[in-house]
Amino acid sequence: MRVVSGIQPTGNLHLGNYLGAIRNWVRMQDEMAEGSQCLFFLADLHAISQPHNPAELRKGTLEMAAALVACGIDPQRSVLFNQAQVPAHAELQWLLSGTARMGWLNRMTQWKDKAGKNREGQSVALFSYPVLQAADVLLYQATHVPVGEDQKQHLELARDIAQKFNNDFASEDAPVFTLPEPIVPPQAARIMSLRDGTAKMSKSDPSDMSRINLVDDADEVMKKVKKAKTDPEPLPSEEAGLEGRPEALNLVTIYAALTDGTVEGVLRDFGGEGFGKFKPALGELLVETLRPISARFTELLTDHEALDAILARGASHAREIGRPTLDAAYEALGLVRG
Ligand code: TYM
Repeated sequence: MRVVSGIQPTGNLHLGNYLGAIRNWVRMQDEMAEGSQCLFFLADLHAISQPHNPAELRKGTLEMAAALVACGIDPQRSVLFNQAQVPAHAELQWLLSGTARMGWLNRMTQWKDKAGKNREGQSVALFSYPVLQAADVLLYQATHVPVGEDQKQHLELARDIAQKFNNDFASEDAPVFTLPEPIVPPQAARIMSLRDGTAKMSKSDPSDMSRINLVDDADEVMKKVKKAKTDPEPLPSEEAGLEGRPEALNLVTIYAALTDGTVEGVLRDFGGEGFGKFKPALGELLVETLRPISARFTELLTDHEALDAILARGASHAREIGRPTLDAAYEALGLVRG
């Protein structure tokens, strides 16, 4: 089993990232059997697909490394690095670009959402972004890729690319790439904005009130939960009663995910109660979950050299793990390399 996943080092790590992906990374790392391996990376190459500030990207990369370690990623047990230190990601992306089809990329909902009506004005990188994502996981023969719901389509594309490459350039008994399996958490696959229950919680939302950041202090968390959009009805006692109430469903989902419970279970405890009672309970639960993470994060950020060293060591390990697959891809395509 090989687990591989990434996160863009732009903005703060937020509750959606944590419950949708990072918590699963830590669990998979902690349950890893002998002979299995986890690789987690900062997708800094992906971050340049949209307008960005270089100084902020540099700062964000170290901060995201610190945030992942604070959440429980252990660089002794998992390979933790940033893409930019492993050139094979960009190389393999080019090799796979001969296999990926324009039509496949045109169908990606993230591309459609981010480009909107202005497709002509977007960077080539934003369009070919999913090919780099495919390279990220195929390079390491990933078997499992823990992600939130929004990344599932990109993973399906990675499977299509791998399949076509194997069909076109490899023999059936010696495929070059493994087809990766997306692992999406049953609860919290899609945490929504606190201001709009129909939009996902996101780093790019201009309103900081729309998300809980893992570094928010207790006052900020309580304020954001208190101000979270809701409706005037009390909570129902059954899940069906949340239909058409996306904001209420989102808050109950967050509570369920934080307690490792279910939406039904939370409604058993809070059904009939108003938000005046539910919101403070949710706020306290969040504060308790985030307190140790943000304390560790602040401490880790005081030592930039240690963080640099973690990423450099992880990258050197990742280069080694990826080399045979990159070589096999060059070879399969008939590219001469001396
Ligand atoms: P990114 O940086 O947007 O998000 C990192 C992870 O967090 C999950 N996530 C969410 N889950 C639930 N609810 C939300 N509101 C929410 N917001 C984000 C994402 O699904 C993701 O798992 N393209 C990727 C990074 C990437 C990658 C990869 C992931 C690059 N290469 C290879 C997996 C494998 C991205 O931008 O994620």
